[in-house]
Amino acid sequence: MNDFLDVFFKRRSVRKFTKEPVSREDLITLLKAGMSGPSGMNAQPWEFVVITDEETLAKIRKNLMFAKMKGTAAICVLGSKRMQTNKAGDKFWEQDCAAATENILLAATAMGLGAVWIGIHPVHVFERQVKSILNLPTGVTPFNLIIIGHPAEEKEARTQYDEKRVHWGVFPRTGKEKWKEKDAELSDVEKREHDIHDL
Ligand SMILES: Cc1cc2nc3c(=O)[nH]c(=O)nc-3n(C[C@H](O)[C@H](O)[C@H](O)COP(=O)(O)O)c2cc1C
Repeated sequence: MNDFLDVFFKRRSVRKFTKEPVSREDLITLLKAGMSGPSGMNAQPWEFVVITDEETLAKIRKNLMFAKMKGTAAICVLGSKRMQTNKAGDKFWEQDCAAATENILLAATAMGLGAVWIGIHPVHVFERQVKSILNLPTGVTPFNLIIIGHPAEEKEARTQYDEKRVHWGVFPRTGKEKWKEKDAELSDVEKREHDIHDL
């Protein structure tokens, strides 16, 4: 296994951190990793809030019920309708932000940092709390918080590979399925609708 693939297995949620700050340079590298991720039609429907001041980090810890970890930095990934470069972002922003997030987590692992993904969207109360703490403008939606720091715990590298979840080829047809073979084809109306949505 080469070193690059090892990073996937080494990435674990780290929830215990030392007091050592994360450098601005490292945070920029994490953001570059995030913004190198794929997005539907390259809409890049994201913005990022970087938090390193203790006052805001403490407010997050105090108020967000699942964000009690004492990281020295946090990145809030925002879905951004105001910055997305085209309408594909309306449909795919969650997937795009998730891809950016995973890139940040993998980069953190490769750099010897620890990080944990705290889910915010689509839980309305969490979104409200983060909007209030970070004083977010309209046109952005908090997707998650990534709590970051230098790790004070070690976790074993692993995959959760499970053969039962893998289907090599199509499911066997029993004759009782809900889907008909012709469902794979688009009608002329559907083709026109699809073109419109792609604009
Ligand atoms: C959408 C999402 C939301 C998550 N929210 C939380 C959270 O609120 N608090 C937390 O401690 N971990 C959170 N996690 C981390 C998961 O608990 C963790 O990824 C999972 O248990 C697998 O462990 P691993 O990351 O070490 O592989 C979240 C992960 C995802 C993808």
